[in-house]
Amino acid sequence: MKISVVGTGYLGATHAACLAEMGFEVVGLDIDPLKIAALANGELPFHEPGLPELIREHVANGRLRFTTSYEEIGSWADLHFLAVGTPQRAGEQAADTSFVEDAVRSLAENIPRSALIVGKSTVPVGTARRLQDILQLHRRPGADVGLAWNPEFLREGFAVNDTLSPDRIVLGTDDPEHEALLRAVYAKPIRQGTPVIVTDFETAELVKAAANAFLATKISFINALSEITEVVGGDIRTLAQGIGLDARIGASFLRAGLGFGGGCLPKDIRALQARASELGQERSMRFLSDVEEINLRRRERAVHLATSMLGELVSSKIAVLGAAFKPNSDDVRDSPALDVAVRLFDAGADVAVYDPKANANASRRFPRLTYAENVEQAVAEADLVMVLTEWKEFVELSPENLQLLTSARKIIDGRNVLRAEEWTDAGWEFAALGRKYAPAYEYSTIGV
Ligand code: UDX
Repeated sequence: MKISVVGTGYLGATHAACLAEMGFEVVGLDIDPLKIAALANGELPFHEPGLPELIREHVANGRLRFTTSYEEIGSWADLHFLAVGTPQRAGEQAADTSFVEDAVRSLAENIPRSALIVGKSTVPVGTARRLQDILQLHRRPGADVGLAWNPEFLREGFAVNDTLSPDRIVLGTDDPEHEALLRAVYAKPIRQGTPVIVTDFETAELVKAAANAFLATKISFINALSEITEVVGGDIRTLAQGIGLDARIGASFLRAGLGFGGGCLPKDIRALQARASELGQERSMRFLSDVEEINLRRRERAVHLATSMLGELVSSKIAVLGAAFKPNSDDVRDSPALDVAVRLFDAGADVAVYDPKANANASRRFPRLTYAENVEQAVAEADLVMVLTEWKEFVELSPENLQLLTSARKIIDGRNVLRAEEWTDAGWEFAALGRKYAPAYEYSTIGV
């Protein structure tokens, strides 16, 4: 089977490389010739462990190549995966589906044969039906081009593994031939036991939106409880363990801290709310606005903690460890860590940010902040150290090591990864999100 992947961003580049790894002949298409040229050399504009190696391997053995030509893939491929972005529309909550629409139109105009288009992009429910109309309208005479929906659930940092060994495969199609074709594409993971769910377009689209909304809700649930444990005392990590051991609840996505960010969760919960409103069901997804508010309040809480530890922020020197939205990523989109760094800076603090991989992206977005080359440089002059992304090298920090590098004896654990006793025993003033910190914190004074 010959397969094209349209759009070579995070999702598309990973999917193309993994399809080649599964043994297919694959062509990745992007409208950006520079991106294509870089990809052909295994150079990625983002950090994803294992992916550059996989791309290089399959470019070298000829199973994977890249193009900018719809005409080329139109006549060549049996199957076309749609992996273009659906960013948040400027000034709105809703997702911008114009890139998927453009891609389907371009495919329809350039496919002279029978083929299947398979949507992977995260789209508002109802998009696939609309795309089918676009396909009908622009289809070449005599060409038999079908559409199926197959959402993707990969996580940054684990993209290759999540694609090769997904925990489920969702197929939105009512055509047995299309289903058979997709089962053949995913034969390997299916053989390894990955369950397949076959459903209609709408359910397939909604599975993706619902999964991300649920994950965001789980994080905000534990973070909302942090607001209680901070006031009454208690340890949010133990609370999470206490509920997570209930098999009905499950322990994952209950790590309390600075909350969620990245290119998916925040955008997807906004898009789901917007779509629910369009469908006249605004009330059904209204709770997601609370989920987002709770998430943003964590950042505010981190700034308040810093203020109470330092007395005032103006002219205080703060080392911010972490800028990426999560460890093992250089992605700073909607990053809680970077947002806190900017808030501290805007409040007058002198902020030095260090992230093992995300400094470059962060400094492109916020050039006003100071970026350090390593922990040592970031903390050298600091009055306060804040761990805001849980990179391994920060999780492994010890007071003994850190006090060789700085005279600061104050630390905030924004991700609940450090052992409080270790730091307090060594004479540090320690505070963490979700744990009580003296002097008492006046919760009622915080707005959203
Ligand atoms: C997410 C979904 O997990 C994935 O299935 C979907 O395809 C894309 O969106 P990703 O954005 O890569 O993946 O990040 P994820 O690992 O889900 O983390 C999202 C955010 O939540 C991060 O900022 C992370 O720090 C935060 N998080 C996660 C918590 O604060 N607590 C947790 O317990 C888990």
